[in-house]
Amino acid sequence: MTSQSDIDALNSRLQDAAPRDIMQEALQGFERVALSFSGAEDVLLVHFAARMDPKPQIFTLETGRLHPATLRFLDKVRSHYGLQIEMLYPDGKALEKLVSSKGLFSFYEDGHEECCGIRKVEPLRRKLATVDAWITGQRRDQSPSRLDVPLVELDGANAAPGSQLLKFNPLANWTSSQVWETIRLLEIPYNPLHDQGYISIGCEPCTRPVGPGQHEREGRWWWEEATIKECGLHRSNLADPDA
Ligand code: ADX
Ligand code: SF4
Repeated sequence: MTSQSDIDALNSRLQDAAPRDIMQEALQGFERVALSFSGAEDVLLVHFAARMDPKPQIFTLETGRLHPATLRFLDKVRSHYGLQIEMLYPDGKALEKLVSSKGLFSFYEDGHEECCGIRKVEPLRRKLATVDAWITGQRRDQSPSRLDVPLVELDGANAAPGSQLLKFNPLANWTSSQVWETIRLLEIPYNPLHDQGYISIGCEPCTRPVGPGQHEREGRWWWEEATIKECGLHRSNLADPDA
């Protein structure tokens, strides 16, 4: 078992490490490691993963509501790197029940939590129950709720009962500019929505481009308050994760 003091020591040791070294740390420490790829600028981590041996498993939560451009991009990444991207789908029965009773856009009325719970969180937890550690593309500069994202954390919210799960956020210390400079320098393929004003990219009905001066996640669930712009994937970022 990894204790909180082990995690604290790991965070201190890795504080100046490059993202790919932080990914390597996960792969050296654990047998079953998965990288969660949303189809946005976290493609940088897929690029690093493609050059690793062993490699992390790569998965995408295919909510059924991703933007068509993102779906095409996922396939482009798959063929560009010759990698398998596991597509995780929501439970059909739970989805049928939700959309039959509330329609396809209930999140505009009663918030995104229920739909994200079915389309993202349940498939995520199903996947995470099969691994020891996962890697995300979260960064501190993405939003006010992410200011304290550590490089490594114990993920109690997503761990299966009775087991331990580690979460690595190798880009936590990086800025958006560093990510984009590296994508351009290494000529990494990227989602064309980024050229159309989208900075953060999620599901199509819940993401819109942002204008000058707006924070990059202001276009996500824009009809909701900034403080609740986390969907359960990253619940530990909320001040009160049990709220
Ligand atoms: S979200 O929680 O608001 O959707 P965000 O879009 O900022 O998250 O992405 C942060 C990280 O969460 C991504 O780099 C990725 O690791 C993970 N993530 C978000 N959405 C998905 C998805 N659909 N599939 C896989 N991973 C995802
Ligand atoms: Fe549903 Fe929107 Fe959440 Fe996607 S982001 S799962 S469409 S509420």
